This record gives sequence, structure tokens and C-alpha cells, in this order.
Amino acid sequence: MANEQEMVTINVDGQEIKVPKGVMLVEATKVVNVEIPVFCYHPKLDPVGMCRMCLVEIGNPGKNKDGTPMVDEEGRAVIQWMPKLMTACTTPVSEGLHCRTANERVADAWRGTLEFLLTSHPLDCPVCDKGGECPLQDLTFAFGPDMSRFYKRNKYQFEKPIPLGDLIWLDRERCIYCARCVRFQEQIAGDPVLKFADRNRGQEIVTYSDPPFDSYFSGNTTDICPVGALTTEDFRFKARVWELKNVPSICNHCSVGCNTVLGTRTDDVKRVMPRQNEWVNEMWLCDKGRFGHHFLRAGDRLTTPLIRENNTFRPASWEEALRVVADRLAETMASYGSASIGGIAGDRAANEDLYLFARFIREVVGSNNIDFRLQWPTNSGIEEALPMVGLTSGSNLGELGKNALILTIGANLEEEQPVTYLRLRKAVLQGAQLLVAQSRETKEMKDATQALLLQPGSEPYLAAALLKAVLAGGQTDMSKIGGAPEVTAAIEALSADDLAAQSGQEATRIQALATSILAAEQLIIMVGREALA
Ligand code: SF4
Ligand code: SF4
Ligand code: FES
Repeated sequence: MANEQEMVTINVDGQEIKVPKGVMLVEATKVVNVEIPVFCYHPKLDPVGMCRMCLVEIGNPGKNKDGTPMVDEEGRAVIQWMPKLMTACTTPVSEGLHCRTANERVADAWRGTLEFLLTSHPLDCPVCDKGGECPLQDLTFAFGPDMSRFYKRNKYQFEKPIPLGDLIWLDRERCIYCARCVRFQEQIAGDPVLKFADRNRGQEIVTYSDPPFDSYFSGNTTDICPVGALTTEDFRFKARVWELKNVPSICNHCSVGCNTVLGTRTDDVKRVMPRQNEWVNEMWLCDKGRFGHHFLRAGDRLTTPLIRENNTFRPASWEEALRVVADRLAETMASYGSASIGGIAGDRAANEDLYLFARFIREVVGSNNIDFRLQWPTNSGIEEALPMVGLTSGSNLGELGKNALILTIGANLEEEQPVTYLRLRKAVLQGAQLLVAQSRETKEMKDATQALLLQPGSEPYLAAALLKAVLAGGQTDMSKIGGAPEVTAAIEALSADDLAAQSGQEATRIQALATSILAAEQLIIMVGREALA
């Protein structure tokens, strides 16, 4: 159970509120609907206080020299206001903190910061893809000056957009140097391939990987860039954002099931954006999920049902195709019974579709033969083991931290489930242990607390060696797992030294891993494609 957070009382524009101790002031004020404008601050990134947009007045209850609280003649606490405005995005709240956002001094600071940012900004909103959903545009309308004291010819000008990589373009004139893109790549994606180069007005974002901007998560930088400096090759000049009809959807490129929004126009998908779901993808997508929508328009895509007749396919209407399927199901049920029918669903279908499919097979057909596995033998015990050490419908990867241990065997998560890789990376930063066993170097090995480089094909031996060592610990209840007596007997008959030798690992190393597994309060085991092949 999560620890109860310590609460503190703070005062925002005269209103007293209770908020968790230590949250940043910029988040705390939202409790009373006071939205402090930000550019560099992002709730998923470490604060840096670079843009100075969030300046507010901050004060704390004063103390006398003897440490007693300062009070006025009427016994009220005396607030000692900081002489200068402070950044709300880097100020953690503490007991008694006071903040003022609604006065001319703060308004003047916000106006000044915006005017300063616009001194080197091209203001080419009519041809900027960010126009219509641009924080710089919105905050300028809300808090900025009503006219500029600078002509375009006074502004520092760069050559118009340059490719940062195959997928992302950079318009250097529009960059406001917030470093969100740099921090995303370092802190979230684990691909630190962007940096600032040069200084002052000549400062610019550069990529120093080869190939350029080499990251599976590069598209996310265009979402969090607060201006139109970063845009995607895929969506540039395809539509104005207010023309899009946004439809909630689920990515089906892998089994993570990231929540998405399809931006459509004239019945065509123009872009795929993340839809925030803290349990699944937070607010991220991998580039496969974001840019891999062109198959929708592929010339060889099936667009109508086909019915096989005399070993050839003929196009049919949905009505006819569904009638054929229904008739075949009814005939089979009548001749052989409902149990003769089974349903296999793909791991890329959405939960809602899988739910409906399961109900159809169970309640309409009357069969309990439903599965999703093509690679696992039946009666492997996986159904029973999944809720114990796997990811199921109640799993929340965001809660993994200290006390959690994640073991991956033969998996290359960045390839197989890219956004799960991001979640595990974050879990490690939150204190979880990540044990990676793979037969070749993968990116998660760099994040792992322990990594084993296996001999190719030796994953089953490692799994058996670990299971033997864990069972020897005597703390594991296998009684609920189907086939457990046979598995336990088979494992006991094997020699620990032989298993260790066949997995290419020292027996002491395997024992150390088993000890970590036994000590973990939360255990997740992920078996990847290479171990299943
Ligand atoms: S490119 Fe965008 S996200 Fe990156 S520093 Fe510039 S404004 Fe910020
Ligand atoms: S990780 Fe990537 S491919 Fe998988 S569901 Fe999410 S966006 Fe789609
Ligand atoms: S948002 Fe606080 S300094 Fe940028």
C-alpha cells in the first residue's frame, strides 16, 4: 500500500489549501484553479527553471532571532516576501508557504518574459504546424504584450527548417531553449542524442548520434516542444490542427496497447498522437506506433471480405461473409457440439474487442476454448502463473519501485514492447531492480541492475537453473500452478551444476539471482520472443 503523504498548508492568492509536501508550487496552485504559465516545466521531466515564465511572488512565515514565529499586533503570522520573483516550477511547497500570482508585478514579469522570447521568434504562426495548439501562441494571447517593439529584420535568423533525422524537422528560429526535448531524450527515452550547441542568439539544438536523432521515441519531442520548433516529417503541412477530427483509439502494433488519438481529415488518418493513460503509456508513444499508420492506405490491404470458393477467393459483402461464418458455426455446433469450436484472438486486439470476443465464444457459441497463445503449449501453467508474476489487467507499471524486481529472459523490450521498456526504465529510476538475461546486448542491459549475457539458445537452461535454486529456497508455493508436481519433480532430477554449465553461467551467480528473486516483494517475469523461439 502506498505510504500516506505528509500534507502541508499553503496560501495561494489568499486561499489556504492543503497539498502534499514537496510537490512543486506550479502543480500545487492547480488545486485552486490557479494555472501558472510555463514553458520549460513539464510534469514528467526534472525541473530546470530555464525559461523564467513561471515567476511569482513567494513568501514564508517569518521567524524571530530566537526561532519563535513573527506575529503582528493582532497575533497574525508575518509573511516575509522574497525581494525578487521566484520560479514556481522549482519551488517545492513547505508548511506556511505563501504565493501571489494575481498582481501587476507578476503580470509585468510574465509580459516581459513573453516579449523577450518573441524578440527572437519569427511569429510565422500562419505557416507553423504548431499553430492552434501552441503554448507560446496561447500564453502570448493570454499574458503577452499586444505589440512587438522589434521588426523582423532585427531578429536573429536561421535557415528555415533543417532535418534533425529522418522523422523530425527543426526550425531553429522558433526554438525557445526550454530543453524539454533534450531532457526527454536523456531522462525518459534513455537516448541522450540531443544537446544545445553555441551560445546566446546563435544557440541551437543539435543531434550528435549517427544516424542523426537515433531514438525509437523521437516523435514525443514534437508533442512536448512548446513551440513549432520540432515537427514531424509525417504531419508537416498535412492539415491545420483545427481541421482534424480526433478519434480515440488503441495502437495495435504491439501488445502494450498504447492509448492514441487519430487525427483524421477527409476520412484519412493524418497523424497519431498519444492519449494520456497513466496505467499504460503515460503520455508517450514509440515511433512505430506514431508513424506506422500508412499501412491503412496500402494498395494491397484487404478492404472487403473474401470468401473462398473452388480454391479461389471472391469478394463479398460483410453481410454475406458474416452469414457464411454464422452458418458454418451453427453447422459445426449441431454436428459436433459447442466444445468442438475454439477461438484464438491476437495479442494486438484492444481489451474491449477481446472482451466481446470472449463473450461471443462463451455465451453465443457456448465454448470455453478461448486462447491467445500460438507459442505456448497447453497446460503449461501460464494461466496460473500470470497473476503471480506477470502483467494482467490490474497491473500498474507506474507503481513499480523499491521492493519490485523485474526479470526479463530472452527479451528485447525496446523492440518488442517499446513503451514497456520506458516504463521499466522509469521503475529502475524509482528503485526497482531489473535483471536482464539475454544472448546479445540489448538497450535494457544498460539500465539493468544485473545483466547476464547468455549463450544463444540457453534461455531454458537458465530458467530451469533459476527455478531449481528458487525452489530450494523453500518459500515458493507451486500448488496453484497446473502441472507443478511434474515440473518440480523434473527440476529436482536435474543437477544444478549441469544447468549452470549449460546456461553458461557460474552456479554462484545463479544462486545470487535466486536470492534476489526470493527477497523481492513484487516480482514480474517477462519472457521474450528469443526465449520462446
Ligand atoms: S526544440 Fe522545442 S523542446 Fe527543444 S529546446 Fe527548442 S523549444 Fe524546447
Ligand atoms: S509501444 Fe509502440 S507499437 Fe506498442 S502499442 Fe505502444 S505505440 Fe504501439
Ligand atoms: S516554467 Fe519555470 S522557469 Fe520555465
